[in-house]
Amino acid sequence: MFSTKQEKNKGKMLKKPRLWISRFLSQLTLDRARENFEVYLPKIDRPASKNEMVELSSKVDAFLICHSEIISSDVAKNFNKRLKIIANHSVGTDHCDLDALKSIGIVVTNTPDVLSDATAEISMLLLLGAARRAVEAQNIIKEGKWNSWSPSFMVGKQVTGQRLGIIGMGRVGQAMARNARGLNMQIHYHNRKRLPKEQEKGAVYHNSKEELLRISDFLSLHCPATLETQEIINKKTIQLMPNNAIIVNAARGKLIDEQALIDALISGKISGAGLDCFVKEPGGNPKLSALKNVFMLPHIGSATEKTRDAMGLRALENLNAYFSGKRPLDQVT
Ligand code: DGY
Repeated sequence: MFSTKQEKNKGKMLKKPRLWISRFLSQLTLDRARENFEVYLPKIDRPASKNEMVELSSKVDAFLICHSEIISSDVAKNFNKRLKIIANHSVGTDHCDLDALKSIGIVVTNTPDVLSDATAEISMLLLLGAARRAVEAQNIIKEGKWNSWSPSFMVGKQVTGQRLGIIGMGRVGQAMARNARGLNMQIHYHNRKRLPKEQEKGAVYHNSKEELLRISDFLSLHCPATLETQEIINKKTIQLMPNNAIIVNAARGKLIDEQALIDALISGKISGAGLDCFVKEPGGNPKLSALKNVFMLPHIGSATEKTRDAMGLRALENLNAYFSGKRPLDQVT
C-alpha cells in the first residue's frame, strides 16, 4: 500500500509529459503522440509567434515543431525552465539557434534519413523541369496558346549523360546521385569529407566547391544552411560555372544570393533554375517568379504522405527516448 505521499509521487510519475505540437501533423503522428504525451495542438495551422512559444514553454515539457517556428536566441533566453526538449519535424535545424538552446540545457533533435528519398525526388523534378522548360511549356498549353509546332519549339537542355555537381553528399545528396545515375548522369561532388569508395559509387570527389562548380553543367545543392554555406552560390561562384548551366536547390533558400541568380538567369549565364526553397518563406521572391526559366515549388521537398508519417514518428521516437532517460537517436545538441 502507498502512503498519501507515495500515492502523490506515483501519480506524478504516471503523468504523461506535456507536448506542444506546433502545426497540423499527420493523423498517425497525432494518434501515436497521444499514447505517451498529453498533447496540446494549435487551433489554426500557422507558424507560432515568439511570444506564444515563450508562453508555452512554461506549460509544456516538450515542443514538437517544424522549420516554420523560429527559435532565435531572444526566444530561447526567455524560455521557462519547464521546457526540456525541442523535437524538430525537419532535418534542417537552421531555424533554431542551437548554441542558445544548448547554453540553457534544452535538448534538440531532428529527423534525418526519413525524408531523403522524397527530397531527392523533388530535386530531380526541379532539375528536369528547369532543363526541359516545363514552366514555359506548361503555360503555353494551359493558357490555350499552343497554336503551332516547329523543330525549334521549346528546345531545352538534355539531361541524360550530362555532368551533375552535388554540393553536400549526405543522405539527400546520395539519394539524388542515385536518381541521377538512372539518367546516366556523371556524378561529381563536393562535401566536407570525402565519402568511402563504396558510398561514392563512382562519383568524382572535388576538394573545393570552386573546382566542382567549374564542371557542373547541372548543380544540385544538398548541404545544410550554416554560416559557412550561406550564399555559397553568389555572383562570383556563378561566374565559375559553365555557360548555360542549371542550378537546383531543394535544401535551403539561404544557400543562394537570389539577386545574383536572377541576374545570371536574365543574362543567360545560367539557363534555368529549379527551386523549392527561398530566402523568404512563405512567399518566395516575386522577381524569381517573374522569370520563365525558373521552375519553382513552395518548399514541398518532403511533402509525401509516407514521409510526413515517417518524420512525425521519428520525432516521437526522439521524444520517447528522452522521456525514458535515453539519449535520443537524432540529438543535435
Ligand atoms: C526539412 O526537413 O528540413 C524540410 O525542409 C522540411 O522542413
